[in-house]
Amino acid sequence: MVFPFLKTRKSPIWNRIAEDDSTRLRLKYDTYYHIFEKQQGTRVYKDGREYVMLSSNDYLGLSQHPKIKEYGKKAIEEWGSSTTGARLANGGRIFHQELEEKLAAFLGKEACHVFSAGYLGCASSVTGFAERKDVIFADKNLHSSLWSGIKLSGARCERFSHNNPAHLSEILREEEEETTKLFVLEGVYSMEGHIAKLPDFVELGKSHQAFIILDDAHGFGVLGNQGRGTADHFDLTKEVDVLSGSFSKSLAGAGGFVASSEDAIEYMRSHSKQTIFSAALSPASCKCAEAALEIIQTETEHREKLSKNLSRYRSILKNLALDTWESETPAIPIVLGEKEKVYFFWKALMEKGIYSIISIAPGVPPGKDLIRTAISAAHTEQDLDQIEEALTYAASKI
Ligand SMILES: Cc1ncc(COP(=O)(O)O)c(C=O)c1O
Repeated sequence: MVFPFLKTRKSPIWNRIAEDDSTRLRLKYDTYYHIFEKQQGTRVYKDGREYVMLSSNDYLGLSQHPKIKEYGKKAIEEWGSSTTGARLANGGRIFHQELEEKLAAFLGKEACHVFSAGYLGCASSVTGFAERKDVIFADKNLHSSLWSGIKLSGARCERFSHNNPAHLSEILREEEEETTKLFVLEGVYSMEGHIAKLPDFVELGKSHQAFIILDDAHGFGVLGNQGRGTADHFDLTKEVDVLSGSFSKSLAGAGGFVASSEDAIEYMRSHSKQTIFSAALSPASCKCAEAALEIIQTETEHREKLSKNLSRYRSILKNLALDTWESETPAIPIVLGEKEKVYFFWKALMEKGIYSIISIAPGVPPGKDLIRTAISAAHTEQDLDQIEEALTYAASKI
């Protein structure tokens, strides 16, 4: 018998917290969760030092755009800070509907639903459709939001090697013809910058009657006509059943979306818990996304500047013989292969005033430990000069 007064009142979870190695190491090396006191364009400030931001996903450089700020302020004036609840419970607002209609039309889909985070939208693009008895075929390198959706759906999941339709085809041969199949893909893989081999996946999808879900968080705004994304880039919008994405990259906002047919969106609204039980996208975030969507259709200069910056950045990386994992987009990894090398490279960049992010296994495949960088239309020539100097210095250190 255990006497109640001898019992420790502490849950073992407090030991787990106190002894956690990944947190201890993260705090020791101080690589993540930095707090900046100020931001001006691509420059961020911390402890009196200035850094060029090289890891944010503001691909089109719109985060300080005056029109976006104006729409956001006006939305708060008119609607306040939040609708304080899920849309199923206390309703959506006209600004949700307007953004959804505009986004659906832009993407070439009938309907759309917007979420308060890209993570929720992308998870819902799976949980809204997959059932326990289905089989999901997933690229090994998917984003965490999609893995969450896959797990929550309860469906069996078969992984195929990254962006490898031939491997998927092999796996499919093992499956019963009558199982309901879903393919979960990304348009542009966030860590690697690879563009999905969508034409081959669509072909396979057709021959196996698969339902294709494409998370295009990093293709949206960058690829395709006016930034309609990866499906549009390949002229395969109709063949992709569900498109999902985020407002926090090219649209420089917060929130996410799922786009498909009207029937499919209504179906998702009945079946995805992330859609049913999570508060609506805020008025300011919604109107900021709408402003950004208008900008990408009317101001071509941002994509032009991105492409100019991208070619200079690529040539800097090439001259230094750095391994960029054959990235084809503004999301560019610098693969160094070992976590020690990655750490020293990252520190050298910090020393020279460049802020980037480390990604190591298991976040990336073993041997692919990397520095993840992203180039923006907002980077100036001066930023790029500083990036070049810092990369040259960091490369000499490893
Ligand atoms: C491929 C992909 N999907 C979904 C998300 C989630 O988007 P958000 O950060 O806007 O929630 C991200 C963000 O990192 C992403 O890279």
